[in-house]
Amino acid sequence: MREYKALINNEFIDNGQWVEILNPTTLDVAGKVSALKEEDVNKAYKAARDAQPQWEAKTLLERIAILKKFRDEILKNKDELAQIMAEEIAKGVKEALNEVIRTVEIIDYTFEEVKRLDPLAMTGEGMGARNKLGIFSRVAKGVVCAISPFNYPFNLALAKIIPALVTGNTVVFKPATAGSLVGAYMGKLAVDANFPKGIFNIVTGRGRDIGDIITSNPEINMISFTGSVNIGKQIRKQGSSTDLVLELGGKDPALVLDDKNLEKYADEIIAGAFGYSGQRCTAIKRVLVSDKIADKLVPLLKTRVEALKVGSPFDNANITPVIDEKSADFIQGLIDDAKAKNATIVYGDKKEKNLMWPSLVDHVTVDMKLAWEEPFGPVLPIIRINDVDKMIEIANQSEFGLQASVFCQDLSTAIKVAKKIETGTVNLNSRPQRGPDCFPFLGIKDSGEGVQGIRESLISMTRYKGIVINY
Ligand code: NAP
Ligand code: G3P
Repeated sequence: MREYKALINNEFIDNGQWVEILNPTTLDVAGKVSALKEEDVNKAYKAARDAQPQWEAKTLLERIAILKKFRDEILKNKDELAQIMAEEIAKGVKEALNEVIRTVEIIDYTFEEVKRLDPLAMTGEGMGARNKLGIFSRVAKGVVCAISPFNYPFNLALAKIIPALVTGNTVVFKPATAGSLVGAYMGKLAVDANFPKGIFNIVTGRGRDIGDIITSNPEINMISFTGSVNIGKQIRKQGSSTDLVLELGGKDPALVLDDKNLEKYADEIIAGAFGYSGQRCTAIKRVLVSDKIADKLVPLLKTRVEALKVGSPFDNANITPVIDEKSADFIQGLIDDAKAKNATIVYGDKKEKNLMWPSLVDHVTVDMKLAWEEPFGPVLPIIRINDVDKMIEIANQSEFGLQASVFCQDLSTAIKVAKKIETGTVNLNSRPQRGPDCFPFLGIKDSGEGVQGIRESLISMTRYKGIVINY
């Protein structure tokens, strides 16, 4: 059985207490990681603080050279990393391997983009200060707390850790419990890459036990968190002066405005709704469409949903077990509530423990929980609305504001509608997605605060340092 320790100051730590991680496919124990306590967390932050000045004092190219060894260790271990993810979060092995490769691409792009963080040079002439020349460089904030979710335990961790480290910050990283095996495995990669002591620390343990301790430590200069709205709000409530980037939940709508390319729309909607069994913040979580178009679209969606392979991540099934039985029960509860309120089950509504068949639910109305809550599972509600302005109104009534899709062949109409939708991003004629990773990625309202994306992450983990020359 996999057993990985935490990493503090380049030492593997176990205090004799462990957290077991279940394999969602077999419901057996996939492995265990150290269950750290407050004193361990404090040691991690002290190590990060002590290491930060020397790490920042290295040149950018010296830091990149060290991080490149880590990047190379990732590639050397890519198959093992994918296997671990398949075991601990039931992500298809191929999809997990793609997550690793995508992460290496983010790292490589980051190494180039960070060189473009050039200082800003300004004169004061515009404000009558003829004798002042200001030079504003980007410098490290200090100690970054990075917290990742279960569904991209490798990618959404390193998409925070690498920009933090390359700009001279040091890091305390908390992986999701389901995701901690691959998270803790990064400790091996870091030690094998000869990371300087203390620049990268991994604190494992259940968020409910040590989460508040991790996010309230006085050494923190910045928290980059990806996860649920509830936890994000809990972190925000702590109200410290710490800078925050929060990437939270979503209820991404797909507005279908014409029937000019329904086959393509159906392909995008199915991929957008059921990728990784719907456990994506950018998953399509509601389709808003008129009756006339729905009567043609729903049969196309049904054909595609029926063709989705349900099964094991080791067979690369399209639909694999959701992360745990509690989540499966929550998702089923939303379906049951919709059924009780006369929604139509077009396909699905079937589960075996935490293996859920993909559900397509038509005639969902706004009095149903499924219209508003984030299932984070393989269920797609169809909400029939015959007026575009009403569609936009319903889309915007959500507490979430991550992304949306508008399916419409008339570009002018699509843009006019997109401009009215209150989300971070609107995708025209494609499913919502975080990538390409060089794009800014943000949620508004309850979907988040601040911006991720390669350049935006570099900026969020640095601050200006101004030097003004008087002459
Ligand atoms: P979660 O339950 O909020 O957990 C996210 C992370 O927070 C985990 O590492 C968790 O550790 C940790 N945590 C738990 N309690 C904490 C506390 N009191 N203080 C600090 N950290 C704490 O979310 P999840 O189940 O991993 O992911 C699903 C949710 O995240 C969905 O709502 C999804 O929409 C959202 N998400 C958003 C994005 C995005 O980019 N916007 C991406 C992925 C997921 P434990 O696992 O040990 O509890
Ligand atoms: O839920 C993870 C979020 O970051 C979405 O990523 O690439 O699947 O759109 P992606």
